Amino acid sequence: MAQIEFPQKGISREEVLATLNSIRTGDGDWKHGRMFSLVYNAGEEVEKLAGEACALFMNENALSPFAFPSLLKMETEVVSMMANLLGGDSETVGFMTSGGSESIMVAVKTARDFSRARRPEIVNPELIMPSSAHPAFNKAAHYLGLKTVVVPTDKSLSADVEAISSAINENTIMLIGSAFSYPHGILDPITDLAEIASRNGLWMHVDACVGGLILPFLSKLGYPIPPFDFQIPGVKSISADIHKYGFTPKGASTILYRNAELRQYQIFAYADFPGGAYATPNVLGSRPGGPIAASWAVMKYLGLEDFMRLTKTTIETTRRLIQGIEAIPELYVLGKPPATVFAFSSDVLNVFALGEKMKSFGWNIDSQHLPPSLHMTVFPIHATIVEPFLADLHSAVTEVAALKPEDIAGEAALYGMIGSMPDRGMARDFAIQYLNDLYRVR
Ligand SMILES: Cc1ncc(COP(=O)(O)O)c(C=O)c1O
Repeated sequence: MAQIEFPQKGISREEVLATLNSIRTGDGDWKHGRMFSLVYNAGEEVEKLAGEACALFMNENALSPFAFPSLLKMETEVVSMMANLLGGDSETVGFMTSGGSESIMVAVKTARDFSRARRPEIVNPELIMPSSAHPAFNKAAHYLGLKTVVVPTDKSLSADVEAISSAINENTIMLIGSAFSYPHGILDPITDLAEIASRNGLWMHVDACVGGLILPFLSKLGYPIPPFDFQIPGVKSISADIHKYGFTPKGASTILYRNAELRQYQIFAYADFPGGAYATPNVLGSRPGGPIAASWAVMKYLGLEDFMRLTKTTIETTRRLIQGIEAIPELYVLGKPPATVFAFSSDVLNVFALGEKMKSFGWNIDSQHLPPSLHMTVFPIHATIVEPFLADLHSAVTEVAALKPEDIAGEAALYGMIGSMPDRGMARDFAIQYLNDLYRVR
């Protein structure tokens, strides 16, 4: 394996910056709406403010709320504003985390420790999740020693309430619902899930990592969004990211609890460290101040009115994209996504090849399997690209329809292969090996 020698001598500031700018030329073009995942783009004005706020606090460390009361103030205010938006009241509390995965990790840890205190007889705790819930739950369970019971979604790609109810046993401690799911943008029936959770004395967690800063605005705009948040009595915790539809740089999410009595189980404390009694709420110890400041800044800057304006643009763009896609006879949208994330598929075309063809036209659309589909998270910036996107999609469909199966190669073939491996353990091992090979200098 190659190795890069640690630099003997520094290079100039200009050279450093020039190199940084040159190595990013192959990156996905999110600035101009050419990507449908990863970077949530609300335009240059918001990006600039978030960047400035982030830079102002980039060196401050949220590990110590005593050293940086500014960060404590901003974090508690961001959490409180999110609670206000998500049906909470003055009892609702939480913390900021580095992202959706960390919010989910600490939610599972909190539910586990709450259950340990209340039901110590459970030694092998289990959580039940619909197959559409984010793998951050599988990861959290893996790290924290819980068993996951993954229940297939129903025909509409929504959590199957009856099947979830039947999967509950004496070891179950927690149910998960997504508001909404990442792969297909489907909102699970949270009221029904929370009802079952309450009846069985289980922790109900709602994952609103993507939906947390879009569903409330859709609701206020008059779109029919069923309840999904703390308005539902059985909901104990909600994860909601700011670095998605809150349009901040990465590193900002919230975990919210119905009250402080539940939240206390998240906090880790060790009193015997020679460096001083140590207590942190998160997985991270040192925590960057930048994303906290950016979250606070964007919420204050946009306010409800501008978030609703951006949401209106995004949902109208989503509807135009869906209409345009469904007007292509070979394509259809999966399920009935109520918001701004959806997936489309085909019964007659290889959609992975279609994704690759679109990539050759300069569009980055993620491939998904189980079932094969292409993923679309819509951002405000996409209002500017609907027509050229649909025109390219028409051309791509025509070109892919003319392909023979043996013409399908590259990433499209790889995706098809992973999706159709009958042994899912083999598919997992393949993914691990792939990443293990990828991360090395070339
Ligand atoms: C529904 C949902 N939950 C959790 C996550 C994990 O968030 P992160 O990638 O910020 O860790 C995602 C990421 O896309 C998501 O869509």
